[in-house]
Amino acid sequence: MIHQKRREELLSILGHDAVVIVSTNCEQKRNSDVTYPFRPDSNFWYLTGFTEPDAIAVFSKESYVMFLRPKDETQEIWNGIRLGVELAPETLLVDQAYDIGTFFDNIKSQVKKGSVIYFDAPGSGGWKDNSSTNTHNQQICSLFESSLKPLNPFISEMRLIKDKEEVKNMQDAADLASEAHINAMRAALPGLYEHNIASGFDSYFRNGNSEHSYPPIVASGENACILHYTENNQELKDGDLLLIDAGCEINGYASDITRTFPINGKFSEPQREIYEVVLNAQKSAINSIKPGVSSNKPHETACQIITDGLIKLGIMKSPEDLSKFYMHNTGHWLGLDVHDVGSKLVNDEFREFKSGMVTTVEPGIYIRRDDKIDSKYWGIGIRIEDDVLVTETGNRVLSNKAVKDINEIEHLMSQR
Ligand code: GLY
Ligand code: MN
Ligand code: MN
Repeated sequence: MIHQKRREELLSILGHDAVVIVSTNCEQKRNSDVTYPFRPDSNFWYLTGFTEPDAIAVFSKESYVMFLRPKDETQEIWNGIRLGVELAPETLLVDQAYDIGTFFDNIKSQVKKGSVIYFDAPGSGGWKDNSSTNTHNQQICSLFESSLKPLNPFISEMRLIKDKEEVKNMQDAADLASEAHINAMRAALPGLYEHNIASGFDSYFRNGNSEHSYPPIVASGENACILHYTENNQELKDGDLLLIDAGCEINGYASDITRTFPINGKFSEPQREIYEVVLNAQKSAINSIKPGVSSNKPHETACQIITDGLIKLGIMKSPEDLSKFYMHNTGHWLGLDVHDVGSKLVNDEFREFKSGMVTTVEPGIYIRRDDKIDSKYWGIGIRIEDDVLVTETGNRVLSNKAVKDINEIEHLMSQR
């Protein structure tokens, strides 16, 4: 029902003659006859609720048609049950269902003359290129050539504002990942390996009938200064910090949480100094979030506090040095995709926060070896990331079960 409501809303925005074509990925080969775990395309999932691979939905004010994999006894014995063409109308509420293999014979008859076709050509409009995972998309492009209009800007505006059910899924995803982070604080010890901690997240998420929303980062010591570190195979050393960036998906909706804590349970003085700057930046950035405020305000706030903090500690000489220590943005939209859709700019201005948006807030400081910096700070990489829902009156931190104050972390780790 919710998917039907979304399709109707989209069509009312696009106008009377609109026809929407939206496809989902095919399964992708990993090696030999092994495929990667399948994850539906987010726009397709949002509009149809259908989670099988290799399908295309076509809908307009007049009709809703699904092309999908047909029933196939051998395939189903080996690889799993398919909905199939016959059951699709009552299950998906489509008017007609067809074998995906007949798409190119049928599609032209689904599109009346004079229709305006909305479809995301691979790589168009800044939208992530999913052509490599979707073999139908190039063919749809060549069939309709230049008459296609981009769909993503319109769906993005809808996906940017989460309804109650979406917020519930995101709260559940944030709760599960927060608990997994607490678990990791309890489990970390010198002599273990990063992958021992990573495996705790695998099992925690699987036990919660969930899965990772992106490859987790479990980075000890100076590995934390590599922003997308995913080897996760080094030994945890006494005296080092451990940065973990890990989140999960519930019904497709992501959490994205980072915590940084001392492997031996106690922050050293230099670690504490840097941690306090990041935590202060993060809390102030979160406090700035409410409806009507620029969506760039958290970043401006965090940059100012990190700049002041690092100058005070003698690590930075001037504000121009900031990008050496803090080189990413303070947040991104979060939803069905971990880096969710929705442009930050509207008419070249940062858009304002509105109730129902969900953003991450994730400032960090990363200090690589550098002779110009006191060596006591070398190799310290700290990021603190929470998931924040904009509410009518301000905001709510969805991931607030994952402790982040120094005394809370040290207390929790002293109880092991
Ligand atoms: N985990 C990816 C990010 O924080 O943006
Ligand atoms: Mn993030
Ligand atoms: Mn993250």
